[in-house]
Amino acid sequence: MRKFNILFLIISMLIIKNLFALTREEKIILVSSRVPTHYQTKYNPNGCKTCHASTGYVGGDEEKQCYLCHSKNNRIIINQKKLKIRTTEAKSVEEDFSKPYRHPVEKQGVLNLLEKYPIIDPKTPRHAECIDCHHPHYSIPEMPFLGASGIGIDGKYKQFAEEEYEVCFKCHGPANNKPPYQKDKLKEFDPKNPSFHPVVEVGKNNYLPSLEKNLNYESKIKCSDCHGSDERNPNRASGVHGSENDFLLLLPYTKKEEVMIPKYDLCYKCHRKESILGNQSFKYHREHIEGVKARNWKGTSCSTCHNSHGSIKYKFLIDFNPDYVQRDSVTNKLEFTSDGVFSGSCYLKCHNVDHSPKRYGSSK
Ligand code: HEC
Ligand code: HEC
Ligand code: HEC
Ligand code: HEC
Ligand code: HEC
Ligand code: HEC
Ligand code: HEC
Repeated sequence: MRKFNILFLIISMLIIKNLFALTREEKIILVSSRVPTHYQTKYNPNGCKTCHASTGYVGGDEEKQCYLCHSKNNRIIINQKKLKIRTTEAKSVEEDFSKPYRHPVEKQGVLNLLEKYPIIDPKTPRHAECIDCHHPHYSIPEMPFLGASGIGIDGKYKQFAEEEYEVCFKCHGPANNKPPYQKDKLKEFDPKNPSFHPVVEVGKNNYLPSLEKNLNYESKIKCSDCHGSDERNPNRASGVHGSENDFLLLLPYTKKEEVMIPKYDLCYKCHRKESILGNQSFKYHREHIEGVKARNWKGTSCSTCHNSHGSIKYKFLIDFNPDYVQRDSVTNKLEFTSDGVFSGSCYLKCHNVDHSPKRYGSSK
């Protein structure tokens, strides 16, 4: 009897110890005892065999297996008796993956499941497969990335990502094989920065007259609130798959001044256009965004002054685009200073206009 008790105690302790060692997601699975979508016969009538032939899983070309169900002529799969049967309601991703701006899942033979993150060798082939972002053994509707690995804000590898952005940091964070124009997203979203969009942490600014009513200074947003398909269609999967918009964005956003009809719809999804163009925070928003007819100037993009992710130097996401903004020729300075609510000054040259400095707000 006593022996049994000790054994029982040891086993319970082991179970409890393991419970504490579990990640948040593993606990969620355990607690909610949710059966992952792909293990439910109503969604996947052929079970393991749908994806695993007798030889096992064939890596690198898995999107074909996923397209069995998640495609245009979706919901029809061949069962073991070679009969066509319908699976229920798998949302299609195929259309988005044939758009001009997309994750290149069609690239073949580059997926390496033994890859170590963060990627050190700049020659490591770049890839983005379904299973880099999803693990079909674990995913559930509320957490499509459940089971995928990631990189935390501390730069360390995690076998189970707990937040969507951690999955993205694997390839858009400290990875040394990024294309040269891409910045390290982990550095841009670092909560130690003077300003950032609130993806990793809630933001630092309490005075945001432009924010839509459903948001406030305590809100958090996700990468996929800005990046994803240009279409809203209930039969298609949402997700950072592909888009007709540059930079795989949900809504159009113009960076280049040469564009005839610039669009900033993406920003106006969360920041009221009337507030921005009504100069509620920055007194000269409207004239910079819409231009000045008298001077025959068309205006410039938000991105000439603001970084869309975070600024390692300044408040209000200020991070001047070097394509259009140079040093002030009088003082040789390129600088932004904030000195109170809706008040500050800039040293710079833009369109041959020197700001040496120019001020706005009460500091005038
Ligand atoms: C919807 C497709 C799909 C279904 C259904 C599926 N698997 Fe998998 N399986 C995968 C993919 C994709 C991988 C590779 C995942 C990775 O390593 O990132 C995998 C990997 C594996 C591995 C290798 C170890 C691992 O976890 O990476 C085993 C073993 C396995 N599956 C067994 C099973 C069994 C048993 C079932 C049924 C209960 C099953 N699978 C159902 C897609 C599927
Ligand atoms: C047998 C059909 C089938 C196959 C094969 C299949 N899926 Fe699914 N999957 C579904 C259905 C049905 C749903 C639920 C509806 C939806 O969200 O599309 C689903 C949902 C999902 C979701 C949303 C989160 C969730 O779990 O509910 C993700 C992500 C996903 N699948 C990824 C994949 C990937 C990656 C593959 C290939 C490795 C794959 N699926 C293969 C049928 C399938
Ligand atoms: C396994 C690697 C991988 C993961 C994980 C990944 N990406 Fe990507 N991503 C790529 C590759 C490869 C491209 C194509 C261009 C390149 O090489 O960066 C790309 C392109 C993009 C682009 C378009 C960039 C441009 O210059 O137009 C965006 C935006 C993007 N990814 C966002 C995300 C987000 C958001 C996540 C997380 C949900 C994510 N990515 C996760 C590999 C990845
Ligand atoms: C508030 C909207 C917003 C959020 C949130 C956001 N992005 Fe972006 N992202 C943009 C815009 C706008 C661009 C293109 C214009 C630019 O470069 O400023 C962009 C460009 C990119 C690019 C290509 C250019 C570059 O700078 O590397 C990548 C990769 C990217 N984003 C990844 C991510 C990842 C990963 C996350 C989440 C960790 C994320 N984004 C969150 C708006 C956003
Ligand atoms: C010429 C530079 C410049 C351009 C172009 C610009 N901004 Fe700003 N913006 C600023 C400055 C400076 C501030 C800081 C005002 C303060 O001191 O609080 C600011 C503040 C903001 C704020 C925070 C306060 C608020 O209004 O809620 C938002 C949001 C914003 N800008 C969005 C935009 C958007 C969207 C665009 C493009 C449609 C844009 N800005 C174009 C310079 C610019
Ligand atoms: C770069 C990362 C990335 C890749 C690669 C990727 N996805 Fe996704 N996917 C996401 C994200 C992020 C979401 C969740 C978006 C959200 O929460 O709105 C998602 C959501 C989904 C969903 C659920 C959509 C819904 O509306 O419920 C399905 C199904 C899905 N993906 C299937 C796939 C398939 C199949 C592939 C490969 C052909 C794939 N994904 C490749 C990032 C990715
Ligand atoms: C999905 C919603 C969303 C979108 C889209 C979005 N923002 Fe924001 N933005 C926020 C939230 C929430 C905050 C508040 C952060 C805080 O409290 O500091 C914010 C804050 C800001 C700030 C002030 C940051 C600070 O620390 O002072 C600026 C500037 C800004 N956004 C510009 C933009 C621009 C430019 C775009 C378009 C490229 C854009 N935003 C798109 C949600 C969004």
